Amino acid sequence: MAFRFNFCIDENESNEPEAHDKMCFPKRKQDSIEKSKQTPDTAADPSLRLGTEKHQEEMLSKTKFCFKAAKEHSIPEDLDKVLENKVMETVSGLYYIKMSVVEMMCLDGADTEGIVSKSVSSHSDLIPGVYEGGLKIWECTFDLIDYFSEAKIQFTNKTVLDLGCGAGLLGIVALRGKAEKVHFQDYNSTVIDEITLPNTVANCTNKGSRMGSGDNRTTSKPPSKRPRNAECLPDVLTKCRFFSGEWSEVSRLLLSSNKPFSKYDIILTSETIYNPDYYSALHDTLAQLLDKNGHVYLASKAHYFGVGGGIYLFEKFIEERNVFRTSIVKIIDKGLQRCIMEMAFKDSS
Ligand SMILES: C[S@@+](CC[C@H](N)C(=O)[O-])C[C@H]1O[C@@H](n2cnc3c(N)ncnc32)[C@H](O)[C@@H]1O
Repeated sequence: MAFRFNFCIDENESNEPEAHDKMCFPKRKQDSIEKSKQTPDTAADPSLRLGTEKHQEEMLSKTKFCFKAAKEHSIPEDLDKVLENKVMETVSGLYYIKMSVVEMMCLDGADTEGIVSKSVSSHSDLIPGVYEGGLKIWECTFDLIDYFSEAKIQFTNKTVLDLGCGAGLLGIVALRGKAEKVHFQDYNSTVIDEITLPNTVANCTNKGSRMGSGDNRTTSKPPSKRPRNAECLPDVLTKCRFFSGEWSEVSRLLLSSNKPFSKYDIILTSETIYNPDYYSALHDTLAQLLDKNGHVYLASKAHYFGVGGGIYLFEKFIEERNVFRTSIVKIIDKGLQRCIMEMAFKDSS
């Protein structure tokens, strides 16, 4: 059932976002990278959609020049505008923007980075150094949300970073859990402007009924009514900051900014370790931004076919750097194996 006002909700019968089952990767040219411990047949993930050989070559060369500048996105004063013409759906009691509508608007000019047209023309949901997949909701996001409930992860009064946030659902769950502040980062500015910010605003509406209620995914129901407008709870939205850019650049921006910055108690990150070329930047960003007693919760597939990364390769990388201890706290063995990893500094209490 759909509502229309400033934006509408498409109550999705299956309660599953349309996008997360359409993940596609470019193929890595050389497969010299060590395979993960779990290497099920590629056919186990029929959703992988690979670009053409020519396109893959271009993408690989771009991987080497991955320095997208960092930028902080201000929250527009007119929140109704943020949600204008958006179509909302719900999953697990969370609003999220219907991606196909955003894609249409982006093809109509709203996408200054041009990532939607590039993604469409390359038939790929991942163009290294250009578009890193944030327009879709990837399935490990839901694994991590489930894990928060199961492990009773506490966000109350914590400072949280949703790193590689895409739709930002992890950060939004942390906001619901009464986090003191939540920062969102995505590689692409279009993703922040067209997806993350609207999703956060949409989930900050309807005073008191959802935000800060402490509900978790298993107990909360999808909102039954569309918010009449974006009368956002100021105290909730003022807890949020939004950043785009490459990880090292965002880290540099945060650490050198005039605004006060305290390191994060919790860093959440889902489906961000597919590309081993980014491991060093990711590792150093986590090391620079995590509080000395903080925790990282990372969700990933065991192996990303076509790109080469995966949980065991990343685990090995982390071990070699000798900064963090890691623990795989949950394995989801449906089809392509997926995992949740917890990380903390080796010398933390
Ligand atoms: C596959 S998407 C996952 C999005 C979201 N976390 C989810 O689970 O739906 C990977 C995300 O990681 C981020 N990312 C990947 N590589 C990055 C890099 N080198 N620098 C900054 N962000 C990067 C992108 O912002 C992208 O949204």
